Amino acid sequence: MKKNTFQISNLKVSIDGKSILRGVDLEVKAGEVHAIMGPNGSGKSTLANTLAGHPSYKVESGSVILSGLDSIDENILEMSPDERANTGVFLAFQYPVEVPGVRVQNFLKMAYEARFKNQPERQFKKAIDFRKHLQGLADELKINKEFLSRGLNEGFSGGEKKQLEILQMALLEPKFAILDETDSGLDIDAIKKVANGVVEIIKKYNTGVIVITHYQRILDYLKPDFVHVMIKGKIVESGDASLISSIEKKGYTDF
Ligand SMILES: Nc1ncnc2c1ncn2[C@@H]1O[C@H](COP(=O)(O)OP(=O)(O)O)[C@@H](O)[C@H]1O
Ligand SMILES: [Mg+2]
Repeated sequence: MKKNTFQISNLKVSIDGKSILRGVDLEVKAGEVHAIMGPNGSGKSTLANTLAGHPSYKVESGSVILSGLDSIDENILEMSPDERANTGVFLAFQYPVEVPGVRVQNFLKMAYEARFKNQPERQFKKAIDFRKHLQGLADELKINKEFLSRGLNEGFSGGEKKQLEILQMALLEPKFAILDETDSGLDIDAIKKVANGVVEIIKKYNTGVIVITHYQRILDYLKPDFVHVMIKGKIVESGDASLISSIEKKGYTDF
């Protein structure tokens, strides 16, 4: 079987007529972890938002091809955000920020049903069976199950939101995931928990991951196969994990 590949080619994106991404090329294979680092304003979130299908971002050229899934190559840029999720692309900021009144487990059930809507055999007939599945995942990820009956993000701390995000990620069994600064604002223990969760998901579903971060710490746990430096809308350097420590020491001025 052909391995799943997520291939970004010559991606150019503008916002309000201003060119932000100026030709990004990146290939992520199943099970690989790619870190993208770079100074503020270099276009990292623009890349993540474009992959998510955010309407403010205009794709000027390029393609993002998902291949190996059902042996059809698909350009995800031509899909709606929902269709992207259905093919197994996960963006780690795609949950609503605060929706009081909607319980976490109901929100996750809707997300799950949407993700697997083309696979009737994956649907749970009884709500209780879904809850058991969800609780099993929460146990595996060491996430407090008390979260599940709370309102969506109502009164959740930063660290708790991120843990929930990782639970959502595990539930949706992504082929590819893009995590945009999932570690920002987290204490050391929370970073470790989130990172360990991501590692478990990669092991289980062979997910290819792009992780955008400013900090070495989460990468100590995620152990990226490749590290890329983005400057002014382009990847200007790619290497292995040894690139991280030289960035930590010298910053981005040499690039
Ligand atoms: N929604 C937006 N509207 C206008 N400008 C934006 C928007 N999003 C990003 N930008 C601009 O695009 C550039 C890249 O931003 P961003 O992708 O957020 O960088 P990074 O995530 O690397 O810090 C910045 O100059 C930023 O001001
Ligand atoms: Mg950003």
